[in-house]
Amino acid sequence: MPIAVITGANSGLGFAIACRLIEAVEGITIVVTCRSTAKAEDTLRRLEHRYPAKTLKLDYALLDLASMRSVHDTAKELKERFGRIDYLYLNAGAGDFIGLDWKQLALDFWNGFIAALTAPTYKLQRIGRKSGDGLGWVFQCNVFGHYYLMNEVLPVMKDGGKVIWTSSLEAFPWAFSYPDPTKTLSDVADSSASTPSDTLQLLINTHSYEGSKRLTDILHVASYKSIFESYKVRQYLTHPGICGTNIMADHLIKPFFWGMFACFYVARLFGSIWHTCTAHKGALSSLYCAVIDDEMSKKFGSGTDRWGNERIVRQEVEEYDEEEGNLVHKAMNDLYKEWKEKLEKEDQEKCSLSLTPCPICSYGANVIL
Ligand SMILES: NC(=O)c1ccc[n+]([C@@H]2O[C@H](COP(=O)([O-])OP(=O)(O)OC[C@H]3O[C@@H](n4cnc5c(N)ncnc54)[C@H](OP(=O)(O)O)[C@@H]3O)[C@@H](O)[C@H]2O)c1
Repeated sequence: MPIAVITGANSGLGFAIACRLIEAVEGITIVVTCRSTAKAEDTLRRLEHRYPAKTLKLDYALLDLASMRSVHDTAKELKERFGRIDYLYLNAGAGDFIGLDWKQLALDFWNGFIAALTAPTYKLQRIGRKSGDGLGWVFQCNVFGHYYLMNEVLPVMKDGGKVIWTSSLEAFPWAFSYPDPTKTLSDVADSSASTPSDTLQLLINTHSYEGSKRLTDILHVASYKSIFESYKVRQYLTHPGICGTNIMADHLIKPFFWGMFACFYVARLFGSIWHTCTAHKGALSSLYCAVIDDEMSKKFGSGTDRWGNERIVRQEVEEYDEEEGNLVHKAMNDLYKEWKEKLEKEDQEKCSLSLTPCPICSYGANVIL
């Protein structure tokens, strides 16, 4: 029976992906990853309550993508406990939003109601926030933590597994360019003092959330072929359209969020195919990529007609540049190797201090004695 691991499954789209998989795949095992035991247990309770008659197994693992130690340990735990992963959903995501640029908001709405609700440019974001690991926080939470996790578990996904990334309609080509940030990014902050590593980690980016999604798209196109050749694992790129979830609600005052949510339905009624509105409809493309073997080069979006009838929309990753893709792929692999070496060294040091032989590696009491 298939095993699906879903990051960020305690709310929004991640929870909806779990629901849709349970509805579509009889006997599936769902492993949710959350940042705390309380959130994980609550998620499992909600799933059990919703599907009392379904044959399924539910489990969880703790994962904080903002900590590379947590990502490394979780990958190890998933491999040891489950031995096989069929679907890996790289879904969790965050933005460092600090408010709205009201002037830009007014301008966006003046230029077009639906466009302003589809491709907003008015979300203000903090620039340069680093994680405790010293990496760009948004970069680590949305892209690098997932990339590390994926690389670690690929061996147990061999021959038929699927990796499914959640990207966004907001993966604007102008939001990220590598290694020269000024090439397409119009509003980069202090680019003169930046290094390629700062650019990759979105540390000088005024739109780090959108940049992280563009980076995801580039990385997908640059890497899906080699992943398939090495592991026979299919990697897919999806987006949920636009739905009202905590990623917005957490950063807006409640009346504003509900007003915006209502506007999503109005936009849909006026013909916007992207306003899926609910996370359940937004999760369609994530489910589709699990159950259908479609072309990996495409980006699969969830859409609806004005009455909310669902549809899959195939898109191209816009303005993909192969040279940039190769550079991004190499930089991500280099960073992955650097962190893997560092974390494994820490593991070995910990084991060599132990008085009993370590069951996982050859270090421990055997070495000391
Ligand atoms: N909603 C939309 O319209 C939309 C559109 C395009 C793309 N997306 C993408 O969809 C994905 C899911 O977002 P959502 O809309 O469902 O928002 P959400 O309800 O806020 O869900 C985000 C999930 O990610 C988790 N998460 C955040 N930071 C994390 C970290 N450092 N480590 C581990 N987990 C972390 C959150 O956990 P906590 O509860 O602990 O914070 C939560 O479970 C994201 O990648 C987002 O970019 C959403």
